[in-house]
Amino acid sequence: MAAQVKFLDTTLRDGEQSAGIGMTVDEKLQIARQLGRLKVDIIEAGFAASSPGDFQAVQRIAEDVHGPVICSLSRAVPGDVDAAWGAIKSAEKPRIHVFLSSSEIHQMHQLRKDREDVMTMAVDMVSRARGYCEDVEFSPMDATRTNPDYLYRMLEEVIRMGASTINIADTVGYAIPSDFQTMLNNIKQNVRGIENVTLSVHCHNDLGLAVSNSLAAIEVGARQVEGCINGIGERAGNASLEEIIMALDTRKDLFGVELSVDTTQIYPTSRLVSRITGMNVQANKAIVGENAFRHASGIHQDGVLKDRSTYEVMQPERVGLPPDVQLVLGKLSGRAGLQARLEALGYSLDREEVTGVYERFVELADKKNEVTDRDLEILMDEENRTASEPISYSLETVHFTSGDKDIPTATVRLIGPDGNAKTDASTGNGPVDAVCRAIDRVIGSTARISDFQVQAVSEGRDSVGSVSIRIENNGRMFSGRGANTDIIVASAHAYLSAMNRMLAADEEAELPAVGTTPD
Ligand code: KIV
Ligand code: ZN
Repeated sequence: MAAQVKFLDTTLRDGEQSAGIGMTVDEKLQIARQLGRLKVDIIEAGFAASSPGDFQAVQRIAEDVHGPVICSLSRAVPGDVDAAWGAIKSAEKPRIHVFLSSSEIHQMHQLRKDREDVMTMAVDMVSRARGYCEDVEFSPMDATRTNPDYLYRMLEEVIRMGASTINIADTVGYAIPSDFQTMLNNIKQNVRGIENVTLSVHCHNDLGLAVSNSLAAIEVGARQVEGCINGIGERAGNASLEEIIMALDTRKDLFGVELSVDTTQIYPTSRLVSRITGMNVQANKAIVGENAFRHASGIHQDGVLKDRSTYEVMQPERVGLPPDVQLVLGKLSGRAGLQARLEALGYSLDREEVTGVYERFVELADKKNEVTDRDLEILMDEENRTASEPISYSLETVHFTSGDKDIPTATVRLIGPDGNAKTDASTGNGPVDAVCRAIDRVIGSTARISDFQVQAVSEGRDSVGSVSIRIENNGRMFSGRGANTDIIVASAHAYLSAMNRMLAADEEAELPAVGTTPD
């Protein structure tokens, strides 16, 4: 029987470490459920000890998502291991993932600890985690820049203590495929007991080689790979999980390994992650980019029309791209047409839920001739977001005037946490600035906008505008998004959504910390 490669998805942990991303507990749960549909083998749900919010997210996912192993990251300190277990203990299949720096650079400059003390921490904490559960992963951080003999000894020790997965972390994206293969082969030859555990790799994309390194590792026997949907993550990101999955699926002839993933869930998962994180997928991104299956040149179009295999190495349906639109959705469409299209896009809704979405759909169809798939995604996103987002303030009305000779002015009316309406107005150097300043005046905020992106969701003058905003407050970043056919109204929603997240985080910071924190 062919060997199986397992996928550990860390979109909710390493992916969330992308600069400027902050997800609510409900949003994380929504992504985790979708990862369950994608049938990844392991979901790294978060880093339980890092904050009360992360603890809660890991715990909710552990209780709610069935099928995959649910894992929490943990530093090699007792409080972290205890918090990780506290958060995952109700999972069907719990895992604790302990990590610790193995390279001299990290030990000297970051940990500032003696290498033998670090060795003891690794041994003690894997043993502690093993006391809680059988499934324990150990990652030597910055493994690819670690002295090989020290690394072999560390791995041997943690395997002796009961680690069941050894994850070689290319933390800073330093590896080169051929060199990485040599390193893994050496580990296999020099570490006693490695044959009894799962060898895993975790590659970052600093040199653009994360996927290549992961595939090279599979060629020499790695049987778990870690990565994120859309390749998000620290700095240049993690290995893009969908690219590894489709490389293994498309080139089965070469790799000859089995996967349990449902590839048709890739596209809906990618769209969901992009919408929730506010990180757009570049158009030419492999597998999930907007142009990934579009053919522009005449020769290519001719070939594809005769036989798709002339210019496509995989079928778009294989990655879950929705079939071409047969029915145009507009204001005359009924609930059945809407439900059918939503199902083709990967949403399953009951009658009651369809009725809720239908109201929003009719509102939009009144403003637009044709409601496209992208419009529907935004509609669903708004529906889910308003149901799950922390709401301290909601927008009742926004009014603005602007023009080439006028001073942009905006008035907003917000409903506050006490249920009372508050109105304020401001001028600005543009209508968006005026609206945001007016909102600031109501809330009393001094947050700064650090990123502002407007995207037309579909083509045409009547397109829905989708706005993503990031704000910075006391060194912390919060993102928000909003959509409307009027981009100033969309901006007001996006700004308020970021503000609400900031206010929820401020409230959370006042809760007592979970578990003990490391030194
Ligand atoms: O990049 C890294 O080293 C990590 C570890 C925690 C596995 O994310
Ligand atoms: Zn990482």
